[in-house]
Amino acid sequence: MKIVKQDNRLVTPSRATIPFIEGDGVGKEITPVCRAVVDCAVAKAYGGNRSIEWKEVLAGEKAFKETGNWLPDETLEAFREYMVGIKGPLTTPIGEGIRSLNVALRQTLDLYVCMRPVRWFKGTASPLKEPQKVNMVVFRENTEDIYAGIEWGQGTPEAAKFLKFLTEEMGVTEIRFPKTSAFGVKPVSVEGTERLVRAAIEYALKNNRPSVTLVHKGNIMKYTEGGFKRWGYELAHREFAKEIAEGKVVIQDVIADAFLQNTLLTPEKYSVVATLNLNGDYISDQLAAMVGGIGIAPGANICHESRHAIFEATHGTAPDIAGKNRANPSSLLLSSAMMLKYIGWKEASDLMVAAMDKSFVEGKATHDLARFIPNSETLGTVEFGDHLAALIDAT
Ligand code: NAI
Repeated sequence: MKIVKQDNRLVTPSRATIPFIEGDGVGKEITPVCRAVVDCAVAKAYGGNRSIEWKEVLAGEKAFKETGNWLPDETLEAFREYMVGIKGPLTTPIGEGIRSLNVALRQTLDLYVCMRPVRWFKGTASPLKEPQKVNMVVFRENTEDIYAGIEWGQGTPEAAKFLKFLTEEMGVTEIRFPKTSAFGVKPVSVEGTERLVRAAIEYALKNNRPSVTLVHKGNIMKYTEGGFKRWGYELAHREFAKEIAEGKVVIQDVIADAFLQNTLLTPEKYSVVATLNLNGDYISDQLAAMVGGIGIAPGANICHESRHAIFEATHGTAPDIAGKNRANPSSLLLSSAMMLKYIGWKEASDLMVAAMDKSFVEGKATHDLARFIPNSETLGTVEFGDHLAALIDAT
């Protein structure tokens, strides 16, 4: 049965169909483990009254082998039709004219919010003295910025044409080495900023989070990143004046380099973070590393208006450990827990997260985490999943 949007809310049937992409490399190992743990948590939480009907859709190497197409239209259609889905990591195909599959999925459904919650799990190793103070949710803009891919290579006729336009029509004189420059364009719009900041503020209010911090480099890039800051504040004071006046949420801003320092020194200052695409890329990885690395960081790509969402493992296909039963399924598991919460099945989501909390405190984890935990027990991908299922069952 399909999840549908009604009156701006998702309505989830008791037997909900969720399309999933297995993923390449370690995706083949972590996806089945993840499905099993989700099924276990749903069964435990709702005693058979709710369940997920998993619908496999193809993308990546598996799709190419079976259909000759890296990202079949049916896959995009399934994510559109069923509203909410999940994906394992995908190999980025190498070759002229082939778009990143992840980018294609995000663009087709206009999934403009890249949401990355970051928190520390007790028991796991962290380079910070007080990692328990890290509890942030990053809202990274997913469709604009220098990341939009509008660029021209050094020495190409396009770069020469663009240079001519800049110098002759726009009066630009600041290009230090014009003849050997490559060029990129950084579009940042009012609408793109407003919808991202709105989603971040609504999330903060709904989840009782105290602040939304706009992270930008507006001191240098005054019109693009400075615009992001200005339009973000204007939106906040126009649409959320009452909530701000009542002290329900504080809107603040910080320059990106200061933010990266402060997250190491005083991470408790930040709760929800709204930022542009490139800053968001760096920030998500630094924050993930602060609490134990990329094997454990969850993520989702969301369109706040249509409610379409694709939850994902944030790491890649890890070819170096693929097929060895060593991959950590935690990123995909935590993304699945986010997904359950997103469709309104909070009880099942909480069971999953509690089991992971418990397992790490016991020192039971996959190799990437266990190697830094004193007196730990290293579990394989499958065994870690079995252990979580046993912990959920025993709840
Ligand atoms: P990667 O994330 O696959 O691997 C980087 C390092 O992290 C490796 O040492 C790997 O063993 C480790 N690692 C990653 N996931 C892990 C897990 N679950 N458990 C334990 N260790 C883990 O990044 P890399 O090597 O740069 O990319 C490999 C392929 O993945 C490329 O084709 C890349 O394009 C693709 N990729 C796909 C992404 C996606 O689908 N969202 C994201 C990043 C990369």
